[in-house]
Amino acid sequence: MHIFYTIRTLQDFLKCQRRTGQSIGFVPTMGALHQGHLSLIEASKAQNDLTVCSIFVNPTQFNNPQDLAVYPRTFEADCEMLESVKCEVVFAPKATEIYQTLPNLKFEFGDLERVMEGAFRPGHFNGVGIVVSKLFNIVQPDHAYFGQKDLQQCAIITRLVKDLSFSLTLNICPTQREADGLAMSSRNRNLSPEQRQKAPEIYKALQKAVELLKDKNPVQSIKDLITNNLGNVIGIEVEYFEIADLETLQPIDELLEGKTALCIAAFIGKTRLIDNVVI
Ligand code: PAJ
Repeated sequence: MHIFYTIRTLQDFLKCQRRTGQSIGFVPTMGALHQGHLSLIEASKAQNDLTVCSIFVNPTQFNNPQDLAVYPRTFEADCEMLESVKCEVVFAPKATEIYQTLPNLKFEFGDLERVMEGAFRPGHFNGVGIVVSKLFNIVQPDHAYFGQKDLQQCAIITRLVKDLSFSLTLNICPTQREADGLAMSSRNRNLSPEQRQKAPEIYKALQKAVELLKDKNPVQSIKDLITNNLGNVIGIEVEYFEIADLETLQPIDELLEGKTALCIAAFIGKTRLIDNVVI
């Protein structure tokens, strides 16, 4: 496995590989890898000659400095995991390598970012848009892989690729879960054992909401019930629970078969977790 820390050395290597006709798959991450990330690497390996995984905790997408400070960093273990799935290339730049200067450029994703994560984390998707654009330009992949776990991020990146005419194919991969249903997340490492025990309640709430929605209960009553029930679990605080159109991500008031997303964000102590399911 090749590990590069600078744009120049990575690009010199990739240029040679491209010349010999190798296709390049790209999986951007912020490290603290888990099986969810590895599923993206595996999807890329199945479709490409060479897979590049970036590990970069992107400061511009953190609206909360405390969240950035406690974001888990486990570079050595990450490299071992990537070796184990035979990822060919790791790109692990320092912040100064990516941001020689902080961009003045600002992304505005319209209605897509006025809801859910965009509404509760101002500036977050601007930071994601900037770093993903930079990484796409640096790596120039044929395919890029993202997880449905971050559903709104997928919608934003889909729009970004269209609007900026990035010449690559996006692949959205299913959410990987622990045996008890908890969506895998780097942030799960910050949960105490007691908090970890409660965390599967988030996915259970989503499943309950799906059931109620399929039984034709009114959307507003489902939202109230789920928010109240989950909020009543001691130690869990719901930030939002939305039932939305899968494409526009705007709230809907009835089930759209095949096009409905149920999205949730909740704090367990200081750790903020998100999850979603699509019907
Ligand atoms: P990070 O949270 O590290 O996630 C990297 C990729 O892994 C994202 O596409 C995310 O959706 C996917 N992922 C995370 N948990 C997953 C799970 N349980 N199942 C399947 N896929 C999962 O998302 C980011 O980093 C950053 O915003 C980034 C795109 C790298 C830009 O900085």
